[in-house]
Amino acid sequence: MPLVTTKEMFEKSMKEHYAIGAFNINNMEFIQAITEAANEAKSPVILQVSSSAIKYAGLKYLMKMVEAAVEENDIPIALHLDHGPDFETCKMCIDAGFTSVMIDGSKYDFEENVSLTKKVVDYAHSKGVVVEAELGKLAGIEDEVNVSSNDAMYTDPDQAEEFVKRTGCDSLAIAIGTSHGAYKFKGEAKLRFDILAKIKEKLPNTPIVLHGASSVIPKLVEMCNENGGNIPGAKGCPNEMLKEAGEKGVSKINVDTDLRLAMTAQIRRVFNEDPSIFDPRKYLGEARKEIKSTVLDKINNVFCSANKA
Ligand code: G3H
Ligand code: 13P
Ligand code: ZN
Repeated sequence: MPLVTTKEMFEKSMKEHYAIGAFNINNMEFIQAITEAANEAKSPVILQVSSSAIKYAGLKYLMKMVEAAVEENDIPIALHLDHGPDFETCKMCIDAGFTSVMIDGSKYDFEENVSLTKKVVDYAHSKGVVVEAELGKLAGIEDEVNVSSNDAMYTDPDQAEEFVKRTGCDSLAIAIGTSHGAYKFKGEAKLRFDILAKIKEKLPNTPIVLHGASSVIPKLVEMCNENGGNIPGAKGCPNEMLKEAGEKGVSKINVDTDLRLAMTAQIRRVFNEDPSIFDPRKYLGEARKEIKSTVLDKINNVFCSANKA
């Protein structure tokens, strides 16, 4: 089947109370691992591309590789722009064949966010593409997605209702305590499920998106550190909380950090265990396997989207 939008997958996920994984892709190994895992689990899946991934791999290469994955697998796959920074980037991706874009206006004030999002929605909808918007600010620091933790600001449920009404966006990313990267919580992990419940009460038919939702898998952090890495004290969002989020109305859960860790942990392990290796297929092959099993575990045991394709 061709690339799909997220419309139908979100409708079903809201009815049946589970979430769909949105996994960031940067090269062939990620695309293969994620789509093979989703195919094996018979789960819908969202492949997402940030603007820095576009800078790294090139839009044409990413499109062609995703096209190949769509041909190779028989599941609903959506191609999504992650954290679209401006109208032009969203338009470029829509024109290139993405089925979904995010316009991240969370760095602007409410009115500016509304007008930028509305502009993207009008263009996207005229082309049959859906739009994710963001209201509220995530804590944490991650590459180009950069908000200091002092600025952390939860999404206001009343504003969320007004925002969706005025922009016509198809899904909404909210801030309830997650953050990007490998250091999510200083003390105990905590998500504001009370805010999620209020938002769902006001917007029962709007798919809700959770960014910064890697669990920062301890086994992978350990594997990195045991093999020469230096990422002490990394801490993510516990799986039980993510599962609860899926059951309570979050339809899309974003994962990048965990797949970066999966790739890095295996590459480090192979290099450390056998310094004579220099065939990239040997270490990238192990990395691809680890990414695949990471995605499979999330689909089967955390997001609960297996057999929903
Ligand atoms: O949420 C952000 C993603 O992890 C993308 O990060 O801009 O480094 O590709 P990136
Ligand atoms: P993590 O850094 O928790 O993987 O979040 C990724 C993300 O939100 C992509 O938009
Ligand atoms: Zn994000």
